[in-house]
Amino acid sequence: MPVVSQPPLAPAFLATLLPELSAIRRDIHAHPELAFNETRTADLVAAELARCGVEVHRGLAKTGVVGVIRAGTSSRMIGLRADMDALPLQEMNAFPHRSKREGCMHACGHDGHTTMLLGAARYLAAHRNFDGTVVFIFQPAEESEGGAAVMIEDGLFEQFPVDAVYGLHNWPGLPVGEMAVMPGPVMAGTCAFEISVRGHGCHAAMPHQGIDTIVAASQLVQALQTVVARNLHPCDAAVVSVTQFHSGSAWNIIPEEALLRGTIRTFKPEVQETVERAVERLCSGVAAAYGAQIGVVFDHRYPPTVNSAAETEICRRVAAATLGADKVRSDELPSMGAEDFAYMLREKPGCYVWLGNGPGTGGCTLHNPHYDFNDDILALGVGYWVRLVEHTLGN
Ligand code: NI
Repeated sequence: MPVVSQPPLAPAFLATLLPELSAIRRDIHAHPELAFNETRTADLVAAELARCGVEVHRGLAKTGVVGVIRAGTSSRMIGLRADMDALPLQEMNAFPHRSKREGCMHACGHDGHTTMLLGAARYLAAHRNFDGTVVFIFQPAEESEGGAAVMIEDGLFEQFPVDAVYGLHNWPGLPVGEMAVMPGPVMAGTCAFEISVRGHGCHAAMPHQGIDTIVAASQLVQALQTVVARNLHPCDAAVVSVTQFHSGSAWNIIPEEALLRGTIRTFKPEVQETVERAVERLCSGVAAAYGAQIGVVFDHRYPPTVNSAAETEICRRVAAATLGADKVRSDELPSMGAEDFAYMLREKPGCYVWLGNGPGTGGCTLHNPHYDFNDDILALGVGYWVRLVEHTLGN
């Protein structure tokens, strides 16, 4: 079903709504909360939903909030998701709505995601120009604790059996007024690894009496850089980064042990598998070459975020109707960052899009201590959500 250019959302309603949303967004920004502790934010979300007559459910994943709006008689049901959590980071902005909490800030724009979804709920509750059920999912703990997975374990999709689920992230570097909507993998899967290297400690002046852990571990760090380059098809993407190297306690001792840690990013299970086997082979090989003992442990975290084809095409058309066809990019490269919306997309078809936040001026990108969500895009996010509902649950 084509989406043709649509009139702007009720201008008079938006004129009142947008200043209120900006105030809510700044209030959330000033009061950031970390994973599963989003109690103030969840209270605010629940109160706002209730205030506009939306049915509210609480308790999934501890601080999760779900709002439900029904209209008409159709059994169709879609889910819209926003994340509510902040980051353990000291804000370095000086504007009035800067974080009031030491060492905690909204540096990923989740304050904006929460606010835009509240705005859409307010609009849809007032207009109900659709036929079906909309489930508004406000999830905790996106940043590292996988709040989306916990909501699913707690019965999110049993209680609210949506046909499809949709997510959105603000995207610095993408101009205001533009969106990126891509089919297939859009964010990478992430896996942490830990490698323990055990040599034989000795006096640094008598290296022949030991097995040099530092030399073996250093060789391994270099060798790991061949995993992607020499094992994968050149058109497959992956990252293997060593981010920690811990060893030694004195300048005259060759240490007994070294500990390496790092991250692997991939988009496909078969690529992940190839990378892990290659890492294991290199660990065994370097161990044999140096006479050391080397063990590796993989810790699988977020899976890749993969958009389904049909729902992505719906989102592309809705984005085009909202912003103009020339403002929707479908050929952006996926991000090697990870996103726990991936868990929802493993359960349900759906699509995760990027909404331009404007230039990342001065390196001000996601997770930067100077980051701030751009209130100028609130209306675009609300407009996108509303049109997505009115299109997928069209009368
Ligand atoms: Ni984020």
